[in-house]
Amino acid sequence: MDRPTWVPEEIDFARPSASRVYDFYLGGSHNFAVDRDLGRQAIRVVPELPRIMQANRAFLRRAVEFLVDAGVWQFLDIGSGIPTAGNVHEVAQVRAPECRVVYVDIDPVAVAHSQAILDGDDRTAVVQADLREPVAVLGDPELRRLLDLDRPVALLLFAVLHFVPDDQDPGGLVGRYRDALAPGSWLALSHGTDEGAPEEITRALHALYRRTPTPAVTRSRDQVAGLFAGFDVVEPGVVALPDWRPEPDDDRRPVWSAAYGGVGRKP
Ligand SMILES: C[S@@+](CC[C@H](N)C(=O)[O-])C[C@H]1O[C@@H](n2cnc3c(N)ncnc32)[C@H](O)[C@@H]1O
Repeated sequence: MDRPTWVPEEIDFARPSASRVYDFYLGGSHNFAVDRDLGRQAIRVVPELPRIMQANRAFLRRAVEFLVDAGVWQFLDIGSGIPTAGNVHEVAQVRAPECRVVYVDIDPVAVAHSQAILDGDDRTAVVQADLREPVAVLGDPELRRLLDLDRPVALLLFAVLHFVPDDQDPGGLVGRYRDALAPGSWLALSHGTDEGAPEEITRALHALYRRTPTPAVTRSRDQVAGLFAGFDVVEPGVVALPDWRPEPDDDRRPVWSAAYGGVGRKP
């Protein structure tokens, strides 16, 4: 296969990646045959997967709108993914044009495409980094140029911590970001769960994602709530995504949301 111009040199065409499969579920065009193959097999296991991913994006939008309304103007979106409709800077800057957004992702396709769409936007930046290295992320010169860490920041960790296994201590990592952020900062996140799913579905999805470099780890609601240690979680708490401050006319909710989410403030 010829390498399209938007594909960075280091990409392995033979191996699916979580970010490109997610792009496929959302109807994007930054994915390869190997990603679509995994995505189609996963959809055969859970036909609602595209709707589940849309529910995650809808929760992200509602959470960002909530945060802007709460007075936040700095956003650190880690595991930001391949840009799609309703990116954080678009949602935030429509409400408050002064909002600054730093996107961080480990995936070179996500970073390359983010750079392309952000070209010329001086309130937004993208950094290629691994969330498991908080010192490198928080010390990045681009991040420091845009974000003032002495003022409140909203840390967004949407659909990313389920790629961090227990032995890499996701709770400890969130704690290191929390400790580096000013009082009045926020954490908003979503996280995959298998609660409510038959065991064979969980097994099949986990097996598919083991083909990627970042196998997924689903967690219970209590485990997801535990990631908010040191934050005061706002109403309605850590809930299935469609239940977080739903909009009255939302009739697209999936039967099983496959994820929990919440928003909390550092006192
Ligand atoms: C499912 S996508 C979520 C995208 C977006 N946050 C959303 O919720 O719509 C997960 C993203 O996390 C990124 N990711 C996975 N592990 C990561 C890590 N250790 N550090 C930074 N990004 C990571 C992947 O490359 C992918 O783009």
